[in-house]
Amino acid sequence: MTSYDASFRVWRGDTDGGGLEDFTVEVNEGEVVLDIIHRLQATQAPDLAVRWNCKAGKCGSCSAEINGRPRLMCMTRMSVFTREEVITVTPLRAFPVVRDLVTDVSFNYDKAREVPSFVPPPGVAPGEYRMQQIDVERSQEFRKCIECFLCQDTCHVVRDHEENKPAFAGPRFLMRVAELDMHPLDAAADAGLDRKRTAQEEHGLGYCNITKCCTEVCPEQIKITDNALIPLKERAVDRKYDPLVWLGNKITRR
Ligand code: SF4
Ligand code: F3S
Ligand code: FES
Repeated sequence: MTSYDASFRVWRGDTDGGGLEDFTVEVNEGEVVLDIIHRLQATQAPDLAVRWNCKAGKCGSCSAEINGRPRLMCMTRMSVFTREEVITVTPLRAFPVVRDLVTDVSFNYDKAREVPSFVPPPGVAPGEYRMQQIDVERSQEFRKCIECFLCQDTCHVVRDHEENKPAFAGPRFLMRVAELDMHPLDAAADAGLDRKRTAQEEHGLGYCNITKCCTEVCPEQIKITDNALIPLKERAVDRKYDPLVWLGNKITRR
């Protein structure tokens, strides 16, 4: 097994401010960035705050920015960097810092609560729901989300504009609206809830200008923009401007 010493720059600080600190730390073959952060804790910085859980790319906890790019620390192999490279690890920029690499992501939980949940179809008992395989597969892609919030962090609508946060749900939760709006059994419309209208008027769909940065950073390779956001925009526009489509949708609800 080959080892070498890597140069790391890690942001240390809290709500009062902070800065980058330099470390030289051992790296062994096959390790990921989270291993190195753990070695830093074990050998040089025992009070370094970092959030993690599964170390398998499935809990979404270890999100951070590595050399400026939002990534999961546990899924970023050290072998993608050269041995000479200085590796900079900073907290997610779009959310307030709690301490060191830990941010307060409650913005996302607030946005999750703003999306009304699935409305079961009336008169159909659980276990009797039937839908086509193509609709199942569409939902399943979106359900791969591990809520790492890397897409939320990278979207320029909130990353560079704190003032947009109240009006914009972000790609992860617009994707949730899209999933429910495209769900053939969702009976929200019967309950008086127009998801296309709320996508525009309450969740800020119009702020998204399809830059696709969210899709690029998604560790689950969900095609957020192509499969959720663009179809939702098309459906919302149909709903808004085409009375025949709107009427057809009402009559033929899939
Ligand atoms: Fe993370 Fe992808 Fe889910 Fe966004 S959509 S929170 S990037 S897994
Ligand atoms: Fe933002 Fe993704 Fe749209 S990065 S602008 S939500 S395509
Ligand atoms: Fe769970 Fe990285 S520790 S995704």
